[in-house]
Amino acid sequence: MGYYVTTPIYYVNAQPHMGHAYTTIAADVLARHMRQRGEDVFFLTGTDEHGEPVALAAERAGTTPKQLADENAARFEALMPQLEASNDFFIRTSDPRHGARVQEVMQRVHDNGHTYLGTYEGWYCPRCADFKSDSEIAAGNTCPIHHIPLDREQEENWFFRLSAFQEPLERLLAQGSPFVAPVARLNEARSFVEQGLRDVSLSRGKLSWGVPVPWDPDHVFYVWFDALLNYVTALGFAREGKDLTGTFWPADVHLIGKDILKFHAIYWPALLMAAGLELPRRLFVHGFLLMDGEKMSKSLGNVLDPFAVMEQFGTDALRYYCFREVSFGQDGSVSTAGFEARYANELANEYGNLASRTLAMIARYRGGVVPQAALDAELAADFDGLAGEVAALLDRVELSQALEAIWQRVRRLNRYVEERAPWVQAKDAAQADALDVTLATLAEGLRAITVLLHPYMPLSTHKLLDALGRPELSYDGAALAATGWGGAVGALEPLFPKPQ
Ligand code: MSP
Repeated sequence: MGYYVTTPIYYVNAQPHMGHAYTTIAADVLARHMRQRGEDVFFLTGTDEHGEPVALAAERAGTTPKQLADENAARFEALMPQLEASNDFFIRTSDPRHGARVQEVMQRVHDNGHTYLGTYEGWYCPRCADFKSDSEIAAGNTCPIHHIPLDREQEENWFFRLSAFQEPLERLLAQGSPFVAPVARLNEARSFVEQGLRDVSLSRGKLSWGVPVPWDPDHVFYVWFDALLNYVTALGFAREGKDLTGTFWPADVHLIGKDILKFHAIYWPALLMAAGLELPRRLFVHGFLLMDGEKMSKSLGNVLDPFAVMEQFGTDALRYYCFREVSFGQDGSVSTAGFEARYANELANEYGNLASRTLAMIARYRGGVVPQAALDAELAADFDGLAGEVAALLDRVELSQALEAIWQRVRRLNRYVEERAPWVQAKDAAQADALDVTLATLAEGLRAITVLLHPYMPLSTHKLLDALGRPELSYDGAALAATGWGGAVGALEPLFPKPQ
């Protein structure tokens, strides 16, 4: 069995922004960490290209939905290497291979008796592509997310019998269930179900930009069903001539933002049950990155540009900041000032400086060779259990807590430098052994935390491990060895230089 992690697939009606980068980086941290632990990992991301939001954006831009999708999907695809995302595939829902598999699964749902033709009447947000229930409508019949008037829709649609899954969903989302984390989101999903589930539209008769319903080709599938199925369909065609479904389904983690909880915690498991497929193991729901207290989004125009941040400070700094400033799972504000402060205080001064000092002292006092001395027992004790703790936290998708646990050891090593004052030890021949212990401990501590930090900051950790002459990334190396390794170290440019 492998480890399968996904991001939501991103709408191509907008250009990539910080919110998209956020979920992608989170998934990448998990994917890289699990690879370090020797897992067979599949990390999927991609673009959601059908449906009304895209059709409307294309109309506004005077182009076709396909053309708009091609242009913007290319931007999202190009974002991945810029973020250092190590995704194993990039799915586009306009890919006919996806469409064919959507039709297969949905035909099964239809054959299993979970659909019927009916008339929908109610409020609909064209930006969310969401038929809103009474509890999801803001004052004056507006969308609480987009602050635009909702449309009153009346149309003949195929319906999915969501109401038939009331009890299985109550069981799935019962208190203490591991299916949705954090627990506040589990409670939110459960309370939605407890209000009583209504059947939902499964097709749209008015749209043509979508996957045709095989048993009624005048309709296309409602975009959310088409989109959710990407998590399953991609495994069927991501590798030419190979079906990965048996290896990777069910997914271990779907990472999502809180705005798409209903679709993932309710519609998605119900659809999978209706199709006779296994359910994913867990959803982890993150909060919104806020600027000026509002969700950052293209349509609201309050965007922190991840490209500008990466260009000036590097990708690692952006990746680090995401999980440091805001506890992953909560909402939180991000700002340029907050970013710059953490870059200077934590990345440059705490970690970058620890790295350059350690290498410089090994060069100056020991000719660039890490002493083979036994490590300082007291310092080593402060690292005991760290690798296991970080792994356990990341198994629960606690990305900020895991980073905090690692960062405490960055700080511990800095205090160790001050406590031991190697520059004083170096002046006294009687302290030569003590200096060996100091340098061996610093080098080994720095190496271990750098292995642990690797999933968060793949570029700088790589450079540092190379300079240490210990490039191995395997998780076995996340624990401290008993002695320094006795090898030569090289030079290192500042990892987090002052920006130009
Ligand atoms: N296409 C759907 C998802 C389909 S998944 C089967 C969609 N796309 S989206 O592009 O609008 O959003 C994708 C994700 O980005 C969502 O989980 C959303 O929460 C996240 N973010 C968008 N803006 C965000 C912030 N400002 N902060 C954090 N994440 C937010 O929804």
